[in-house]
Amino acid sequence: MIELLLVALLAQEESRVPTWTEDIRHIVLSNCMPCHNSGGAGAFHLLTYDDVAGRSSFIVELVSSGAMPPWIVDDAGLPVEHKRNISKEEIATIQKWIDAGKPKGEGLDVAICGGGIVVPDAVGATNPEMPWLIPAESKPRWHLGTLDKQTFVLPINNPKPMKVTSLEFKTTAPRAVQMVSLVFDHSGRGRMFDGWDPDEAGYEMMGDIGWLPSGMHGKIGPGSGLIKLPRGFHWEIPENADLIAETHFRPRGKQEKLLCSVAIQTDATEDSRSVQEIVSMVRRIYIEAEDDIYTVGETIEVPVAVDMIGITPRAGAECSSMKIERGERTLFSISHWDSHYGETVFFKEPFRLESGDKLVSTWTYNNSESNPRNPFVPAKLVDLARKTGIANFILHVAPVNSNDSEALKSWNLSLLRKRQR
Ligand code: HEC
Repeated sequence: MIELLLVALLAQEESRVPTWTEDIRHIVLSNCMPCHNSGGAGAFHLLTYDDVAGRSSFIVELVSSGAMPPWIVDDAGLPVEHKRNISKEEIATIQKWIDAGKPKGEGLDVAICGGGIVVPDAVGATNPEMPWLIPAESKPRWHLGTLDKQTFVLPINNPKPMKVTSLEFKTTAPRAVQMVSLVFDHSGRGRMFDGWDPDEAGYEMMGDIGWLPSGMHGKIGPGSGLIKLPRGFHWEIPENADLIAETHFRPRGKQEKLLCSVAIQTDATEDSRSVQEIVSMVRRIYIEAEDDIYTVGETIEVPVAVDMIGITPRAGAECSSMKIERGERTLFSISHWDSHYGETVFFKEPFRLESGDKLVSTWTYNNSESNPRNPFVPAKLVDLARKTGIANFILHVAPVNSNDSEALKSWNLSLLRKRQR
C-alpha cells in the first residue's frame, strides 16, 4: 500500500508542470542571479518572471551549450568549491516550463538572494569625492594592445594586525569591471604610485607591490565579489594596511564613474592557520606572430609540507590553456583560458603537498587568429615581461607544521627575488 502511494506520488511529481514561483525562480536564483542582478556583471537583470520569460528560449540555448553560467576550470583537477554548474535536470525543467506555456504559479515574483558580509570588521574605500572615469572607449596602451586596467588604493587603516577570513569587494560599475586582483600592502608603495598624479584616482600601472603579485590575496570575477577562505584558515595582515585593487574594465561606449569599496571579516577560529602564497611563474614570453602552440613552464620543489587550499591563475588573453601537475596527477587545469573569468578558486578539501614534491606548471599560448580571444589581430610578435610573472599560479597554502612558516616565507621570497633579477 505504502509502495503504491509512493509510486503514485512519484508519478505526480514527474507530471507536475513546473512554474516560475515553485521551480524556475530557484534555478535562476542559484545559477544566474549572482551576476544578473542589479549589482552584477551580467548584461541585464534576470530577476523577475518577465525578465526570464521574455528570453527563455535564448536562455535554454546558452545554458545547454555551456556558455552560461560561465565556468572555465576543468574537472580534471582537484574538486573546487562553488563550481558554477547548472544541471541537466535543471535545464530540462526550464524546457518543460517553456513547453507548458511558462506558467507563473502562486507567490513571490522576484528572485531575491542574500549572502555577502553583513557586518564587516574593517572597511576600505576609494575617495568618494573623486571617482575615476571609465573611458567610453579603449585607449591604445604604451606597449601593445589597449589600456583596460586601472589600479586603486583602498586604505583600511586597521590599528592592529588582523586575521582576514573573507572580504567582499564592490564597485559602482559592476558591468564594466570584469576582474579585480587584490593584494594587501603595508609598505606604502601603492599610495606612492597613486600620488604621482594627484588629480586622478588610482594609477595606470599594474597592481603588483614590489615582489608581491596582484591577485595574491585573491582575484574576483564577475560573480559575487566575495572571497571567503575555507573555515579554519586566514590571511595575516599587518596593521595600517591598504588594499590594492587592480581592476580590469571593459569600456561600454559611455563614460562611467567608478568607486570601489571593500568589507572585511576577521572572525578566525582559535586554531585557524595562516595562509601564505607561493608563486609558480614564468617571467617572460616571446611569441612569433602566427605561432599557435607556444609552451612555457616552470617546476618548483615545495620546501616544507603544506596544505594547499586554493589557486589563483594569471595570464594574458593570448594564453589558451594552463595546468599544474604533481607527478601523474593534474591538480588544476583550464583548457580554454578566458582572462575575464580567471578568478581564485578554493578546493573542496585542502590538498597535502609533501616536502620535496615537484609541481610542474605549463602555459600554452596561441598567438594566431585561431585564438578567438587574441587581442592582436592580425597577429604580431608578443614580447612581454613582468617581474612578478607574465603567467603564474599563485598557490594559497598553509604549512602543515606552523614551525615551518618562516622557512617557507624566506624560501618563497628568495625564489621571487632570484627570478626578478
Ligand atoms: C559569473 C557571472 C555570471 C553568471 C553566474 C551568469 N552570467 Fe550570464 N552573463 C554574464 C556576463 C558577464 C555576460 C556578458 C557577456 C559578454 O558580453 O561578454 C552575460 C551574458 C548573458 C546573456 C547574453 C548573452 C549574449 O550573447 O547576448 C544571457 C542570455 C545570459 N548571460 C544568461 C544567463 C543565465 C540564464 C544564467 C544562469 C543559468 C547566467 N547568465 C549566469 C555573467 C554571468
